Amino acid sequence: MLNIVLFGPPGAGKGTQAKFLLEKFQLVHLSTGDLFRENIGEKTELGKLAKSYIDKGKLVPDQVTVDMLKDAVLKSIKGGAKGFVFDGYPRNTNQAEVLDTFLKEQNIPVSIALALEVEDQILIERILERGKTSGRVDDQKEETIRERISVYYANTAILKDYYHNQDKLSVIDGLGTIEEIANRLEEVIKVVV
Ligand code: AP5
Ligand code: MG
Repeated sequence: MLNIVLFGPPGAGKGTQAKFLLEKFQLVHLSTGDLFRENIGEKTELGKLAKSYIDKGKLVPDQVTVDMLKDAVLKSIKGGAKGFVFDGYPRNTNQAEVLDTFLKEQNIPVSIALALEVEDQILIERILERGKTSGRVDDQKEETIRERISVYYANTAILKDYYHNQDKLSVIDGLGTIEEIANRLEEVIKVVV
């Protein structure tokens, strides 16, 4: 199984690149952000809770996030998944440790972790542009976007060390055309498949 962890600050292109990887390597896309937004759309209890954090640019508490993710992985395995792209999960060391333990239990460890890097000003421009049509509350105000970026640097960027220590990290320049970046990702993934 090919299991890819794709992380990077908000607007780095995780969702955009995940789409290419799914087609190229026949993987299941698991975006915790998308799963939360589905729940928000369906007005579930989980959705109501998640919304109160997401709209402010804060992380949703680990326990609900982890349970939701495990549930989605197990359902996909039952459905015959050949591997996963984890987009926006893990977002802190605890989530990474939980994922490692859980995937090892399923005998499907993380194959590679890809960190997309883009400078802050470009992230803000991309997200504000998307915010004109995305309907996402967290895409509307520069203040909220800056909060999301600082949450990334405070909690998530440290995962570069975590995966580097496991010899699984590739850092990818996220600036360029979408196709150029897709090619960069493919080059490093080819080495592990
Ligand atoms: P999530 O949905 O994961 O949002 P995010 O990390 O803030 O990132 P985005 O989805 O905004 O950006 P992206 O990197 O996917 O970029 P995209 O491809 O869309 O999380 C939302 C919230 O949910 C979090 O803030 C948190 O509250 C909660 N949450 C989620 N996971 C959690 C977890 N594990 N634990 C706790 N809480 C969690 O691209 C962005 C824009 O740029 C698009 O318009 C795209 O068209 C454009 N673009 C992409 N690539 C390029 C390019 N190369 N050139 C020009 N434009 C480009
Ligand atoms: Mg996304």
